[in-house]
Amino acid sequence: MGSFTGETIMSGWKHDHIIDLATFSLEDYNTVLELADRFKSLPLSGTRKIPALQGKLVATLFFEPSTRTRSSFELAAKNLSADVQSFTPNTSSVNKGETPLDTALTYVAMGADVLVVRHSSTSVPEQLIHSLKEAGAKTSILNGGNGIQSHPSQGLLDLFTLAKFFNPVKPSTETLKGKKITIVGDILHSRVARSNLWALTACGADVFLCGPPSLLPEEFSDFTQTPPPGQKFDPIKNRGKIHIIRSLKEALIESDAVMTLRLQRERMKQNLLSDLNRYHLDYGITHEKLKYCKKEGPVLHPGPVNRGVEISSRLVEDRSICLIEQQISNGISIRMALLYLIATKKSENHLSKAEKGGNK
Ligand code: CP
Repeated sequence: MGSFTGETIMSGWKHDHIIDLATFSLEDYNTVLELADRFKSLPLSGTRKIPALQGKLVATLFFEPSTRTRSSFELAAKNLSADVQSFTPNTSSVNKGETPLDTALTYVAMGADVLVVRHSSTSVPEQLIHSLKEAGAKTSILNGGNGIQSHPSQGLLDLFTLAKFFNPVKPSTETLKGKKITIVGDILHSRVARSNLWALTACGADVFLCGPPSLLPEEFSDFTQTPPPGQKFDPIKNRGKIHIIRSLKEALIESDAVMTLRLQRERMKQNLLSDLNRYHLDYGITHEKLKYCKKEGPVLHPGPVNRGVEISSRLVEDRSICLIEQQISNGISIRMALLYLIATKKSENHLSKAEKGGNK
């Protein structure tokens, strides 16, 4: 990892918990991108782990299903030598009526240093922080997705993937400045879209949102003017603009990158779309529609994918254009950076010390 030291990377890092990217400054984004890029360059297979989180316990409490987020948080924690404890709601005491807060406090009592939490209710992470404070616990909360509000690690891994695509040598917020990024599909139910809106506009990218009115209300053009409850000010002075365009062709014209989203049918209170074939014709991303972009791609999708609905199967498999695999692999580096930053903030266990013991 060259002469770069953890002290340099971490200077200015203030977050004990990571709930929403609305709280991130440009310095925070660059700290995470820089650290993730360092971790990505390390050969971490087999026994070659970084001992930075040795003796720390990371518990993953996913009250909603997950493949990517949970597994990559667990791999990230293991790469940093943490102990990892998974929780499976179906076989847990949730079935006996235990609340999410009591479940979380149970893992705190077992010594968890970090809780990665996913829940369908937006208020759970903040309630947890409040309960931990009341209990005098030092455990950090990392939001793995709360309802439709926020999915910060996904927003950051998408940002890292785009920054790395445009500048493989030095991926930073500067890389996204002035770029036109188009996000297509079910914005209304998407915590991924919301986290990307905070991250991309913070970097000075202009975001073009595209979808039918039932999945993309007009109010989204003011999204970044309304920080989440409890946040007093926006740490970013000059955000990129948000535009709403109903026609996919118009939204794609001169786009630098396209992000397509899954239809979140589990969050729809009513059937907002009766005809999936019609949806694919109007909003599905295909090779043919990409001809309107500046170049053919790149295309991102957070996963899981509904092939033939929001994206064609052929495009999913076209690795020269579609960055899904890179998003998944970058997710491990980003989650290593997040775990490292919050778990070592209090113990001042700097990366430079960790490096000396690692990569043997
Ligand atoms: N992108 C994402 O959150 O995927 P999982 O639901 O599989 O974690």
